[in-house]
Amino acid sequence: MDIKIFDKQVDAASYTVKIFQAAIDQGAEVFGLATGSTPIPVYDQLVASDIDFSECVSINLDEYYGLNSDHPQSYHQFMADHLFNKKPFKKSYLPDGATDDLPGELARYDQIIQAHPIDLQILGIGENGHIGFNEPGAPMDGHTQLVQLTDSTIQANARFFTDPSQVPTQAISMGLASISSAKQIVLLAFGANKADAIAKTVNGPLSNQVPASILKKHDNVTLILDQGAASQL
Ligand code: F6R
Repeated sequence: MDIKIFDKQVDAASYTVKIFQAAIDQGAEVFGLATGSTPIPVYDQLVASDIDFSECVSINLDEYYGLNSDHPQSYHQFMADHLFNKKPFKKSYLPDGATDDLPGELARYDQIIQAHPIDLQILGIGENGHIGFNEPGAPMDGHTQLVQLTDSTIQANARFFTDPSQVPTQAISMGLASISSAKQIVLLAFGANKADAIAKTVNGPLSNQVPASILKKHDNVTLILDQGAASQL
């Protein structure tokens, strides 16, 4: 794993935007995208850049199960607000959290990933080491699945909801095998609350108790960290 540590998140974001540009220059057309606080500075800088995604496809990691795509806290809305409405892609895929055919939706999403192999995957990381919503114990060979969010993830996500009891407890998430199939992976982590998960990912064993540790098996991974997230390395 290549590890880059920055004093300022804005510089970490600029570095990430350069990786997007380099990937596009090399012909990348499919981008795996994440939600959450961490990638927001990257999306802000992508919006401000002259990178053109109009011939590109995006595939998001996950969506809350049980939320309509027009729910203000859905990941559909998050992506529309932070990126897609300002920087459109040719086609943007997210799981349908309101599906009434769950097996069909999981299969549909796997087919999308198969039909559009991901050139560059952006990841955040949970305090418990989750990537996507693959919580500790998730299968290393997993594809798109319905996942039960852990209490710590539900609590972390509650900051986005006015009523914490409204935080969904399940999500549809790409699996660890799907994430690992991306040609290039960039994991961003900001803040000392991510330091333990980063230290376990980098220095600990490969174990599904720390789902991000699966990245050790991948040959093109960059961790982009601030000083806080790097503080236990
Ligand atoms: C989001 C996702 C999650 C987040 C992680 C960190 O699509 O898949 O793995 O990346 O929970 O969230 P933030 O960035 O809000 O700390």
